Amino acid sequence: MNVLTCVENLSQRFEQADLYYGHGTDNPWDEAVYLLFTVLGIPFGEEDGSVGARELSAEEEQKVLELADRRIHERLPMAYLLQQAWFAGLPFYVDERVLVPRSPIAELILQQYQPFVEEAPRRVLDLCTGSGCIGIATALVFTGAQVDLADISEDALEVARINIKQHGLQGRVRAVQSDLFQHLEGPYDLIVSNPPYVSAEEVAELPPEYKREPELGLLSEDDGLAIPLEILRQAPHYLSENGVLVLEMGYSWELFAERYPDLPVIWLEFENGGEGVLAITREALIRASV
Ligand SMILES: C[S@@+](CC[C@H](N)C(=O)[O-])C[C@H]1O[C@@H](n2cnc3c(N)ncnc32)[C@H](O)[C@@H]1O
Repeated sequence: MNVLTCVENLSQRFEQADLYYGHGTDNPWDEAVYLLFTVLGIPFGEEDGSVGARELSAEEEQKVLELADRRIHERLPMAYLLQQAWFAGLPFYVDERVLVPRSPIAELILQQYQPFVEEAPRRVLDLCTGSGCIGIATALVFTGAQVDLADISEDALEVARINIKQHGLQGRVRAVQSDLFQHLEGPYDLIVSNPPYVSAEEVAELPPEYKREPELGLLSEDDGLAIPLEILRQAPHYLSENGVLVLEMGYSWELFAERYPDLPVIWLEFENGGEGVLAITREALIRASV
């Protein structure tokens, strides 16, 4: 079988199995390409047109079909099966100890947080770091910054440590176990966070693929707002004078904006999709009361 036929067959099978997407791809065809290219080691975006005709060896075919079967029957996100996810153009090791990276903050990182961060930050905190994707990608755009990756879950931090090493950042990036800010010491010039923000009712209704992710990474009380609100309340104590907080709360942003209509936050817009990410300065956070 060649690559094109294999992608066609797999995408048809994925379509018939009525899978749910949203962990890196949003349709059966891309999901099949993602699987095949990863197993065959074909770099994304660099294929020269001849790749469709490439024949799979018997071993490659067996591996691909095995993973496709597991994708269908176990409803595991493809990233867990491949133990790899892409974020901000970078590969990250992932497994079921962490959420699959997909935050729209990737786009902001690639723009070096412009226009919200004027000077390159010296100290950065990625709070609720999971795989470490946000903090590590940030460390790679601010090459002089010291970056702390914090998470309450030791399991998640083990994954983050694998990624620190994979990106050769052991000298500048460290993983810290902390319940929000509990074991952290400021001041940070930039705090960036994609925390849990999904309400209990929404968690109960998630499609099977999302139920394979750690609930600790999704669930937040108070209609999803408890953890984002706690971060907004505590962040001023950990930000430097000109520090900035970038906080994601996804679709919970509408409820938040209803409750706090006067809070001077900036809601970011993304070219590649995604919503509910705010930026606010320490100064504005102190003036506002959350
Ligand atoms: C939505 S996931 C985000 C992971 C990563 N930042 C990303 O964008 O892929 C949220 C993470 O917050 C962690 N977490 C949950 N409650 C926490 C708390 N109280 N303090 C610190 N981390 C927490 C979870 O373990 C999980 O890894």
